[in-house]
Amino acid sequence: MNALVVYYSEFGNTKQVADAIAQTCRASGSVREISADKLEASDVNNVDLLVFGTPTHMANQPKALSLVLEDLPKGILKGVRVAAFDTSFNMNWFVNLFTAAKPLNRKLRQLGGKQIVPPKSFFVADKQGPLCKGEIERAKNWAKNILTQYKCFPDPKQVT
Ligand SMILES: Cc1cc2nc3c(=O)[nH]c(=O)nc-3n(C[C@H](O)[C@H](O)[C@H](O)COP(=O)(O)O)c2cc1C
Repeated sequence: MNALVVYYSEFGNTKQVADAIAQTCRASGSVREISADKLEASDVNNVDLLVFGTPTHMANQPKALSLVLEDLPKGILKGVRVAAFDTSFNMNWFVNLFTAAKPLNRKLRQLGGKQIVPPKSFFVADKQGPLCKGEIERAKNWAKNILTQYKCFPDPKQVT
């Protein structure tokens, strides 16, 4: 496995979740972790798993992250298994439907990525954090689920 974990983070909470995911994934192969503002198309070369995280801003991904994603060439994630997450407030089931992981997941799929798990939210207690109690553990468990799906899922390059 050659994984890349990318995060966009203003106050460090999304990075903390990304760190926990990267740490868990390292048990199964090579994992690089980078901030989205440093992401270049070449970073995705030879990557077969991309986990991407963003904070939720106004029920969407931050504008700055959308611009980074817009810059990536069409089809760049062809053959890459993808998983998207966000950090957001845990409000109620209805508001929780409108978090950034969903549009981010859609964008990763538009770029050719093969979704292997549903998009996931991790919760912060306040705008600048901290993460709610137990969220790092939940992130590690989500990463284990990603690894399981990664192994089960047929290589997207071989799926016609
Ligand atoms: C401009 C702005 C808009 C936000 N809008 C939302 C929102 O619509 N829904 C939500 O759950 N959290 C919202 N938040 C809270 C963020 O989700 C929170 O700041 C983020 O999870 C922190 O992650 P970070 O430390 O990685 O930046 C907003 C925060 C900012 C700064």
